[in-house]
Amino acid sequence: MCGIVGYIGKEQATPILLDGLKRLEYRGYDSAGVTVYSEGLMKTVKCKGRIAVLEERIKGEELSGSAGIGHTRWATHGEPSDVNSHPHTSPSGRISVVHNGIIENYQAIKARLIRKGYVFYTETDTEVIPHLIDYYYKGDLLQAVTKAASKMEGSYALGVISRDEPGKLVAVRKDSPLVVGASDDGNYIASDVSALLPYTRTVFYLNDNDLAVIGENGIDFYSPEGDKIEQTPQTVTWSVDAAEKGGYEHFMLKEIHEQPKALRDTMASRIALGTPLSLGAGASTDILQNVEKIFITACGTAYHAGLVGRTIIEKMSKIPVETDIASEFRYRDPIIPKNSLMIVVSQSGETADTLAAMREARKKGAKVLAITNVVGSSVAREADEVFYTWAGPEIAVASTKAYVTQLAAFLVIGLCLAEARQTMSPEEIEEFKAEMLKLPEKADLVLSKKETLQMFASKTFSHRDMFYLGRGLDYALAMEGALKLKEISYIHTESYAGGELKHGTIALIEQGTVVIALATQEPLRDKMISNIREVTTRGANVLGFCTESKDGAEHEAFKASVSASLSIPYTEELLIPVLGVIPLQLFAYYVAVLRGCDVDKPRNLAKSVTVE
Ligand code: AGP
Repeated sequence: MCGIVGYIGKEQATPILLDGLKRLEYRGYDSAGVTVYSEGLMKTVKCKGRIAVLEERIKGEELSGSAGIGHTRWATHGEPSDVNSHPHTSPSGRISVVHNGIIENYQAIKARLIRKGYVFYTETDTEVIPHLIDYYYKGDLLQAVTKAASKMEGSYALGVISRDEPGKLVAVRKDSPLVVGASDDGNYIASDVSALLPYTRTVFYLNDNDLAVIGENGIDFYSPEGDKIEQTPQTVTWSVDAAEKGGYEHFMLKEIHEQPKALRDTMASRIALGTPLSLGAGASTDILQNVEKIFITACGTAYHAGLVGRTIIEKMSKIPVETDIASEFRYRDPIIPKNSLMIVVSQSGETADTLAAMREARKKGAKVLAITNVVGSSVAREADEVFYTWAGPEIAVASTKAYVTQLAAFLVIGLCLAEARQTMSPEEIEEFKAEMLKLPEKADLVLSKKETLQMFASKTFSHRDMFYLGRGLDYALAMEGALKLKEISYIHTESYAGGELKHGTIALIEQGTVVIALATQEPLRDKMISNIREVTTRGANVLGFCTESKDGAEHEAFKASVSASLSIPYTEELLIPVLGVIPLQLFAYYVAVLRGCDVDKPRNLAKSVTVE
């Protein structure tokens, strides 16, 4: 996610802004910038690259003043570049803005402002904000920001300053975090408290849609209706380290809990009810026309997402799909017929094997659609079209929120293909979209069952081997669950198709062997119960994962067949993996913590494998 800082006070703003941005570097970014106000002038210095590059640029500038805003950008709309960096300024130079979030209706706002004579210079969604505030500005910055915010859909945390109203910084947030800090030397805004701790531990957490007017000597809070409201200051007791993790013990746990928001951000503007399906900015659905065969290739967790994607696309569009681990695809001299589409999946967009596989497919005539989380990454640059997952930076080596947004990407792509080939009626598509839009709240329900996973972990963390069993989509889920556990707890885990166990591996099952049985798919559940019986009769201790029925009832026969079970909320079969993976992530996390492992940085692993 982007990082925001702002300051108004007695001190020079620039050093405080730069220090605050450095404390937000952990959030991941690709560019940075500041705007400082002094004697009637607002000066902006911003650029692609690290904060050190920005500091070099600032050396050559006269950037004095005791009021300013700063930003570290994680690109979502518009690749990393100087011009796309924040702060963004209105054409008149009157308004300067820093933003964290996604303005989902930015294209409509942009078109409207262009008709009013405004000119735009960037590909970003953010650029519409200073222009919109400028459009509503009639001498009262708070009023203009309030009006502009009422027109914006999506998520935003904003810091706004104006050349015409020195000594005032207006802040507002919706679905993106923003904190206000108060001290004797001045007042602050920041995306999270880690940027403020050297200056103050007295903070105010802005509520959604509320606004703050920050001055050198005071802070006032307002409702969207313009009423002054009272806010109670909080005292931050966190360490800097805890602050960077938002109070969670590890980035992995924080990112697991960010999944409902990551899903909302990735899906919302692409499948809004009653509106045309969209692959999002950066991808035209033209690439999905006349496709006769699809290849999916990736590594690790992204590959597991591709396995789920295969079933989604085949069931929705009836197009045959082949899936390959990228390091295998690139060397098997694949046969790629005409009208083939290659879908590559990569969180980082820099995985060497995935890049090589993509190039191999292109060389053989396939069109390439990339699903990636990093704007401007190598995969993004080389693909014909890019579907960006808007999961925000994923810091933990173990991929979680990127995986669920990759599944969301396949669901959107599947619907677009089904629409193009008319294998789903418009009514069926709308119904499916409605069910997808419920996923974030259902994900929250699954997250609320964390104590069950903690109990599962406490009973099993000392084991040396664990087996994950599943059939169909649950087999793909078993692979992801097994990878999560092995890569952060170092327990030897294997994932197996439920029906395959008796062809050899069941020889390893003995008294006390831990088996994780996934039976979330109703059509295959009875078969899975048979597989569970095969292993329990040989002494296995089975932890079972199932799905509630539509009326919320648990599956009694399944519960009776295992030693402990957890059920996830009912949803469409193709959507179940989005929810089904969450308990497996939490289980792996709690086991690794109990084993004292370095959860965020497991041994021998890198976040992005840029070598073969
Ligand atoms: C997932 O938890 C692992 N960290 C790893 O398997 C990862 O998914 C794989 O290296 C692919 O990375 P990418 O998505 O950035 O291409």
